[in-house]
Parts: sequence; C-alpha cells; structure tokens
Amino acid sequence: MLPQEIIRKKRDRQSLTSDEINEFIRGVTDGSIVDAQTAALTMAIFLNGMTKEETAALTLAMRDSGHVLSWPELDGPVVDKHSSGGVGDKISLMLAPLIAACGGFVPMISGRGLGHTGGTLDKFDSIPGYRTTPSDDIFRRTVKEVGCAIIGQTGSLAPADKKIYAIRDVCGTVESIDLITASILSKKLAAGLNCLIMDLKCGNGAFMDSLERAVELASSIVRVANAAGTKTKAVITDMNQVLGRSVGNALEVAEAVAYLKGENTDTRLHEITMELCSELLLISGLEASPAKARAKLQNALDRGLALEKFAAMVTALGGPADFCDQPWRYLPQAAVVRPVFAETPGYVSAMDTRGIGLSIIEMKGGRVTPDQKLDYATGYSQFCQIGDYVDAQTPLAVIHAQTEEQFTQAAAELRRLIRVSDKQPLLSRCIIQKIA
Ligand code: URA
Repeated sequence: MLPQEIIRKKRDRQSLTSDEINEFIRGVTDGSIVDAQTAALTMAIFLNGMTKEETAALTLAMRDSGHVLSWPELDGPVVDKHSSGGVGDKISLMLAPLIAACGGFVPMISGRGLGHTGGTLDKFDSIPGYRTTPSDDIFRRTVKEVGCAIIGQTGSLAPADKKIYAIRDVCGTVESIDLITASILSKKLAAGLNCLIMDLKCGNGAFMDSLERAVELASSIVRVANAAGTKTKAVITDMNQVLGRSVGNALEVAEAVAYLKGENTDTRLHEITMELCSELLLISGLEASPAKARAKLQNALDRGLALEKFAAMVTALGGPADFCDQPWRYLPQAAVVRPVFAETPGYVSAMDTRGIGLSIIEMKGGRVTPDQKLDYATGYSQFCQIGDYVDAQTPLAVIHAQTEEQFTQAAAELRRLIRVSDKQPLLSRCIIQKIA
C-alpha cells in the first residue's frame, strides 16, 4: 500500500494491519518514506490512537528495524530497568551493579537528558575516560565479565525509533501513549532482555503529571512487553520532588558512589532503588520472595559487592581504576560552591521539580540544542526534601556554579521554586502503584 494510503486510513480512524505497519516502518528505515509522511502518520496516531494490536505491531516493527541482540553466552537472566525520566534520578547507577551483584546481567542502553530531565549517559560522560559508545566487543565482554554495562544507543539498535523520535520531537507528537510505548520498548526489546522493570515517574517533575496518564502508559508498556516475551512490571513512583540529595551530572555520580559505599542513604532514593531491584530479582526468578530479594540486595550493599561491580564496570569501559576510591579526584568541580538559605525558616512543603530541572539547563548541565557540550560540574548537592526543616543553618541546597552570576541566578530560582511554610506537610508515598 502507498504510504499516503496508510496515513489516510489512520486519519480516518481505521485500524492498520501488521503488514501495513511493517511496510511503513521499513520505508522510514530505508529512507523511502519522507519526514513529512512520518510526521503525518504520527499526528494521525496521536489524534486517533491505536488498538492494542496496532501498538504491539508498531513496537515489533520498530524493534526489528535494526539489530536485535541476543545473549547465548550468559548463564543468568538478562534484565534492565527503564525510567520515564525525572530530576535527580540516578537509580540506574545503583541498580545495574546491585543486580549484577545478585546474579543478573544488565546490558543497559541509556539515553541523554530530555527536556528538563537528566540522562544517565550524561552522568557517565562526567567520568574521564568512560566510553559510553564502546565497541560491540567491549560492551558484550563487560556484560559477561562484570555483569553490567551502561552505554549509549548505537546506530544499529532500533534506528526507526531514532528517526521517528526526532520527528515527533519537532511536530508535537511526543505525548502519545501508543508512540511512547513503541519508542521505549523497541529499544529495550532490541537489547534482548528477558525481564524489564519500568520506573514510571509521576508528578510535577515527570512527563506524566497525572496518575491516570501514568497508569495508562504503564499498562500499555506492561501489556506490549509481556506479549513480546519480555517479563515486565511497572512501578509508578513519586516525582513531586527531586530524587535524592543531588542534581547535576558529576554530583549525581558522586551521590551514587556514596550510596554504594553505604555513606549516604537518602530514604526515598533507597526505597525506590530497593523496590525496583527487588521486583527485578522476583520477575527474573533470581529470588523467590520480596523478603529474600531485599535481604540479598542489602547484603550486596553491606558487603560492598555492588560497589565492586560499579568500579569494575567503570574500569572495563575505560574509566580510572581507582574511581570509586576517590571520585572527586576525577569528577569535574565547579568554581563557586556555596549554600543557599530560605528567606524565612520553616518546613519545605512543595517544590516545582520541573523548574529545578530547567535551572540545571541554565547552568549548562543540560542541553538547549542537541549537540551542545555540557558543563558536568554544575548543579546542587545537599538538596532539601519535602518535610525538612530549613533555617539559617540548614540550607535549601548547596549550589555548584561556575560564576558568581550563575550562583546568584540559581539561588533566586531555588528560593522561588521551593515552598517553605510554618506547618509540617503531610509526606506522600514514594511508591505509588505497581502494575503487573
Ligand atoms: N523516551 C523514549 O525513549 N521515547 C519516548 O517516546 C518518550 C520517552
């Protein structure tokens, strides 16, 4: 069928067959379908939606647009996590080595920052020498020998998604549940996973700000991934405040290393990390009960096994051999490091998390244009959490800026974005709902 006929069919609210979807995606991949046609089809899908069968067919067609990995050489489950994106979300840095220390294999293909959210790949790029685009051989060897490797998307993995995503980004069709499902899963399924845990962030720092939309996306992803043979569960977690105590690339790497050393255990960060890891151990069959899974993970933390895995991964991918012993010898540091205090003392009762993510972009820790070079050193540490009491001794955060001007601007932003009140707020749960 001609591409314009496929577009017309979806425009007129009819269902597409798998053959039509396959044909369209083949054309996107080989360039015979032009960007305007792709844009038109994504808008028709955005407006009219897809059936479950169409979404599944689109996901598989996009997965099969490139190389699909398989891991016959591994003697354990191949698993991964995907987060829908948030502010201060460094869970991948802890989850991958924790799972590797518990017998799983994690070939994690991560992305760069998107909009106001940080990206795992940008965090690893702050480690000198660490290669986020290693050769296939080094990637496979690291997964086999260490148990985890966190790298960037290669051109051969789900190339149709790369093209379609770039077009959606500039034609207003990003926020479609069907298109997001196919986009995320085409890449994850191409990595040859047995199991996947989805961390769907919900709140004012997430792409999905309503619980209803988060549940809808979680259900769609869980349904399509399980039907494709990858055991998948989703956990909806709170993103109405920054996750953990640091925001910014190098600062988040340092927080993750401290966590793995047992030096820093922010309660919400720990709880969400444990929950996602525990679910992965259960769905992959590595553990039989939540209590056993938690005990195994705690043991991996307490005995430094997860830290060893992280250190081995950094070294195998080209980073310093003693990175975890002295991360600040290697991580870039900002010129102006000073606390910012609230104007009046009180309890932190709310924050504009998206605004905080955007303020990192202002400090060049996130991108305005796709090929922009980042400043990995900037950001915040000792970030307050909702319910904390702040006063003239306890800051809202410590700002890491490169100039006095940047510091002044970030300080004003944080005072505006963080609400302090004299009443202690009710604390919300960080694990909101699970979808199996
Ligand atoms: N992340 C993706 O990879 N794709 C989307 O469509 C949205 C978020």
